[in-house]
Amino acid sequence: MPQVRVAALAEVPPGRMLLAAAEQRKIVVYNCGGAIYASENGCPHLGAALSEGVLIGTEVTCPWHHWSFDVATGECTSNPLAPKPLTVFPAAMRDGDVWVELP
Ligand code: FES
Repeated sequence: MPQVRVAALAEVPPGRMLLAAAEQRKIVVYNCGGAIYASENGCPHLGAALSEGVLIGTEVTCPWHHWSFDVATGECTSNPLAPKPLTVFPAAMRDGDVWVELP
């Protein structure tokens, strides 16, 4: 799978997230205490922008109905009946940039 540069690491300080674009997708990059993760921007429930949600630790909470997702695994941590997980992508730091592996 191709790796795509999506942001400079300096744009995503620890505890923050950043909306980026790559390969015609909206991707959210998360810096969780120095560990980098990435996901689709659209919430798997009804499509709200997770980049407008709240990030605490490795958990992002959707701004619309407050479902929470583990950005490391995509698992919904607030609703055991959630029909599908958040789509997450492998992410890496290299040469001061954030790279994401897209399908
Ligand atoms: S759209 Fe995200 S929880 Fe409903």
